[in-house]
Amino acid sequence: MNDEAAAATPSPSAGVMERGGFYNEHSQPQQDAGGFALPWIEEAARAAPVPGDGGLFVIADYGAAQGRNSLAPMRTAIRAVRAGRGAEVPIAVTHTDIAGNDFSALVRLLESSEASYLRGAEKVFAYAAGQSFYRRLFPDGQVCLGWSSIAVHWLSAAPATIPGHIWSPRATGETLAAFAARAEEDWRTFLRHRAAEMRPGARLVVVGGGADEAGDSGADGLMDLANATLQALVAEGALSADEYRRIVIPTYNRTPAEFMAPFGEPDASGGLVLRRHALEVLPDPLWQAFERSGDTAAFAAAATDFFEAAFGPSVLGAALESRDATAGQALAQRFYAGLRQRVAADPASGSCRWRVFLMLIEKP
Ligand SMILES: C[S@@+](CC[C@H](N)C(=O)[O-])C[C@H]1O[C@@H](n2cnc3c(N)ncnc32)[C@H](O)[C@@H]1O
Repeated sequence: MNDEAAAATPSPSAGVMERGGFYNEHSQPQQDAGGFALPWIEEAARAAPVPGDGGLFVIADYGAAQGRNSLAPMRTAIRAVRAGRGAEVPIAVTHTDIAGNDFSALVRLLESSEASYLRGAEKVFAYAAGQSFYRRLFPDGQVCLGWSSIAVHWLSAAPATIPGHIWSPRATGETLAAFAARAEEDWRTFLRHRAAEMRPGARLVVVGGGADEAGDSGADGLMDLANATLQALVAEGALSADEYRRIVIPTYNRTPAEFMAPFGEPDASGGLVLRRHALEVLPDPLWQAFERSGDTAAFAAAATDFFEAAFGPSVLGAALESRDATAGQALAQRFYAGLRQRVAADPASGSCRWRVFLMLIEKP
């Protein structure tokens, strides 16, 4: 199978977060990234159009995963709507994600968490939709307010595998160009669908997993360690060379210029307008805890759990699906033990300073 064909048949686990609530437990960096935009969602919610005559105020959460990191932005948005012109309006929050997402963990969290925005809320209703945000998810003009955090760097599919690596910022030449082209097409598709779904005057806040203008995502060191761990598994015979060759994380971290490009062309953005943007560099909360404790093993475990939560199913999914449960568990344990060892031996490389690009978008 050539690179294109290998990438065209992704595992059902591609893009999915580690199940069983594991992502909720190990996604502090993503929560911190969303935290940058809480004032933005508050402002957006205050400015968003409130339907009259008992109509629903529809909030869409695009790429919600297991929901923990959506609780604060949704609560912030609901409060802002209630404090403004929407004191009485019924509010519907729809959490969207791909079909393989662990929606059960999300629903349980909404029911049980002290931090759930449903606690004590009047006329607030929660829903889930299991379809890709690269297609239409709502009828025309229904969404009043949109939120998407650390999700749009996940592509509709990887356009190719990456020789000698699993992480697109480490691709070069034609392979890197194929990722950039897919990311451009996907971002335009995302915006055009959102434009159709939004009411006139609606706002959309996107926290994009990004890169700086030099293309640095801030996580390349951790990805190098994961890649070296996989190569060691091949050398030991635990993973076949062909299995390794097909592993690719289907993401692309866009630069600010790439995020902003469609807004200059009405056809590309569906007429949406970029009102404000900012590039932020995320401090690494796991590294900060390591600096306080000096505990290398704890840092290595936390960095590996973070990797597993966000990237484990994309990296190991196909290999696990082709093994029985016992052999799959043994492979996973070996991979994560190997990654922990590599992070412990080189903690600085395991630290991530993720670049995030914040956007406040409006449908005029
Ligand atoms: C890193 S998680 C972020 C989740 C959450 N928003 C947060 O801030 O923690 C990325 C999410 O995007 C979802 N995702 C990936 N591709 C998607 C697509 N095409 N449509 C909808 N969601 C997608 C993944 O399944 C995952 O749940």
